[in-house]
Amino acid sequence: MYNVALIGCGRISFKHIEGFVDNAGKLNLTAVCDPVKKRAEEKVSEYQKKFPDAAVAVYEDYREMLAKQKPDIVTIATESGKHFEITVTCLEAGCHVICEKPMALSVKDADKMIAVAKKNKRKLAVCFQNRFNAPVQKLRTALEAGRFGRILHGMVQIRWNRNEAYYAEAPWRGTWEQDGGTLMNQCTHGIDLLQWIMGENAVRVQAQTRRFMRPIEAEDFGAAIVEFKNGAVGIIEGTADIFPTNLNETLSIFGEKGSVVIGGLAVNKLETWRFADANSVGDTEDKILNPNEKDPPTVYGFGHSVLFKDFINSIESDREPLVSGESGKKALEIILAIYKSQKTGKPAGLPCDFSTLKMKGIFDK
Ligand SMILES: NC(=O)c1ccc[n+]([C@@H]2O[C@H](COP(=O)([O-])OP(=O)(O)OC[C@H]3O[C@@H](n4cnc5c(N)ncnc54)[C@H](O)[C@@H]3O)[C@@H](O)[C@H]2O)c1
Repeated sequence: MYNVALIGCGRISFKHIEGFVDNAGKLNLTAVCDPVKKRAEEKVSEYQKKFPDAAVAVYEDYREMLAKQKPDIVTIATESGKHFEITVTCLEAGCHVICEKPMALSVKDADKMIAVAKKNKRKLAVCFQNRFNAPVQKLRTALEAGRFGRILHGMVQIRWNRNEAYYAEAPWRGTWEQDGGTLMNQCTHGIDLLQWIMGENAVRVQAQTRRFMRPIEAEDFGAAIVEFKNGAVGIIEGTADIFPTNLNETLSIFGEKGSVVIGGLAVNKLETWRFADANSVGDTEDKILNPNEKDPPTVYGFGHSVLFKDFINSIESDREPLVSGESGKKALEIILAIYKSQKTGKPAGLPCDFSTLKMKGIFDK
């Protein structure tokens, strides 16, 4: 059993509680931390609905928690701008860390988090839970079996709605200091999937971002073309402005010998599955597509529990988690290159040492 603590008890934290409950054979929640005590207490109640006798301590200061009880694992779900400091402190205290996305707001900070994890021999994972969606795993298996041949191009579309009430609920959202815009917050999942399937080796991006209509500092729309090392091209379309509600998040991958499209509300539904070898493999599209496939209850999908399970297994078998710090940094770097491209009006190459803070005032002119 591993003792686990949750740091940050806001909107997404219910998925962490769900992850603890679903992995109860391995995880034992011992502490929850939030400066807003009531939120932390609510998480204890959520957990105790399943485990009424669980003794879970509440802390307003996570450093006090680390001093009083050193958990084996912490999961971090605070404002994005705080991930760096909290992750480094917890790793140095000897905890393994699962950090919400984006792991940091600059490449320099992400690199430091990875280095500190390595130095302290602790595991670090980033919550890109959509990698575990069943259709995405199926796509990944086909890719690894070489069924696409050469990958030519891929596209991700994130057509969602984050309205004024969403931004008013937590003033850090959409700020350069604590968040970034919709590419960094919402679209980072889709961008991670695109680059993960295309080979994790983006070399250049060219982008246009806009703050069209939301009352925030950062962008609410972005479009980008990503060039990969192998010559393949990725296209990103991401927005928080879709009227009137979330429409779809769709990943399309096209190779010489295969085409796959995964759509639905949040990349959860196979829409196209065509391979040159489909007859011999026995997975022709008519057999594979399932018209009854349901969207998840929220756009957060089904994956936190599976990601936590993979993380526990990575500790036990001393391997990297599927979404390691190194792998989780890739989407961050692409998004920061998109920001740089918007700022300079030119393509931006990777590696890209940039930070959201360098975008301050960009849309104020
Ligand atoms: N994986 C996903 O699908 C997903 C979805 C939504 C949000 N997120 C990410 O999760 C993070 C949190 O987002 P949210 O919408 O839940 O935010 P939120 O504002 O609703 O919650 C953040 C919470 O962290 C608390 N907090 C701040 N400083 C703290 C500290 N030092 N110690 C402990 N708690 C502290 C705040 O009081 C607040 O309750 C963000 O990084 C966001 O990008 C991920």
